[in-house]
Order: sequence, then structure tokens, then C-alpha cells
Amino acid sequence: MTGPGKVVAGNWKMNHGPREARAFPSQLRIPDGSSAEILLFPPAISLVGLREELERAGLADRIEVGVQNVHFEDSGAYTGETSVSMAAEVGASHVLVGHSERRHIFGETDAETAKKVGAVLRGGLAPVLCVGEDLDEREAGRVEEVILRQLETVLASEAIRASLGAGARFLLAYEPVWAIGTGRTATPQDASAAHAVLRSHLVERLGSRGPQIPILYGGSVNPDNAGDLMSAAEVDGVLVGGASLDAGDFSRIIGAA
Ligand code: 13P
Repeated sequence: MTGPGKVVAGNWKMNHGPREARAFPSQLRIPDGSSAEILLFPPAISLVGLREELERAGLADRIEVGVQNVHFEDSGAYTGETSVSMAAEVGASHVLVGHSERRHIFGETDAETAKKVGAVLRGGLAPVLCVGEDLDEREAGRVEEVILRQLETVLASEAIRASLGAGARFLLAYEPVWAIGTGRTATPQDASAAHAVLRSHLVERLGSRGPQIPILYGGSVNPDNAGDLMSAAEVDGVLVGGASLDAGDFSRIIGAA
């Protein structure tokens, strides 16, 4: 990817309620001169408090926030759901779509992820589309087939391709399911190989826009392995789960970018 710094994104999952989210910004230490692009995905209910405290800490221009999921409709009888416009109203700039926990625990399908990416782009926010194979698929040699299917379901939409071609922000995250929350990290070589597959498909489908889409790696990233992963070819940043919950660890990962 061409562009400024590496992307360092933290996905808090269902951790850090409003009180803990508010306590986070004052504990962050962003190294002077860091060019990292920093994103945080708190639980939706903690987002307003986090933003207020980022502002108070003078970090609101430095750190963007997003939500971990949205519904593809803008409003209506969808108990428990959040729409893109609601997320935008409280200051979210990004939306995670198709995280493996959404796919595997909540049964979200490829078709639903495509609808969600379309809705996020229509709402003017940046989708972060997560793709990744599980252990059985890796052992069966199906990594390429699985991640390309997950990506192509989204890029098959002409409206989505047009929006990306016109410069809308979009990020991809390669998160092998077997590496999420397991302490088992993909090697930098594993990550590079998968990212190269995704990159060539982005170029095939989006032409000159393809090289500009950041591809993040996620799965047991921590302060000790983040530097090596981010130095690997085609790795434009990291999407961090567990290690993003601790402001000190997250600050060290930012420092490694
Ligand atoms: P861990 O860093 O806890 O493995 O989680 C990765 C992840 O799922 C980020 O979205």
C-alpha cells in the first residue's frame, strides 16, 4: 500500500464498558513523531464516553473510533441493532464488518457482510472487512479459496466497486480464525502470503485503487510480535484484540508501527 503510516487498530470486542473506556485515553502514550494511523473499536455503548475523553486528552484528531457491527437497514424494527447513521451521529468513522466472531458465533453470512459493506459506504463511513480461514480450512489447503470468496462476495457488487473506485475509504483485515485469541500468531510469512493473494485480487477488481487499500493482520498481535508483523511485505497494519485492552500494551504496539 502507498500512504502515510501503518494502521494500528484496537478491537475491544465485548470488553470495557463506558467507565473503563473513559479511563483509557489518559493512559495512552503515543510516541512523539509516530505516523501510525490509530483506530479504536469500543463496544457501541462506550463510544460516546471514549470520544469525550479522547477530546479532553487532546487526542480526538489523532485517534479515530468505530463500531464493531451495524445493521444494513437505516432504521426500523430490528431489536438490538445499530444503524450506520446512528454510528455516524456519535462520531464513528469506521465499522468492522464480517469479523470472524460475527460469522462463526452469530451466523453472519457472506451475503450479509456484502449488504453491510454497501450500507457503510452509502453512509459515508469506512468499512473494515474482516476475512480469514479456520484451522480445518488451512489444513485442507483452502486458505486462498476461502479468503477470496469472502472478499469477492463484497467486490461483486457494482455499487461497492464504484464507490471504492471513486476513492471511498475501505480497509481489509486478514484474521485467520485459528490465530484469534489463541496466542498462536501467523508468522510474518503466513501473513504476507495471504495478504499478497488479497492484494492481487484487489488490483484485479479495482485497478489503480487496489494498491491503496490497507490490509491489516489480526490474530494474537502483541507488543512483542507487532514490529515483525508490520515489517512483513504487504502488511499495512494490525487489528489487535486482547492486547488493545491495556493502554500500555496498545501504546507499545503503536510504538512498533
Ligand atoms: P486477538 O488479538 O485477541 O487474537 O483478537 C484479534 C481480533 O479478533 C481482532 O479483531
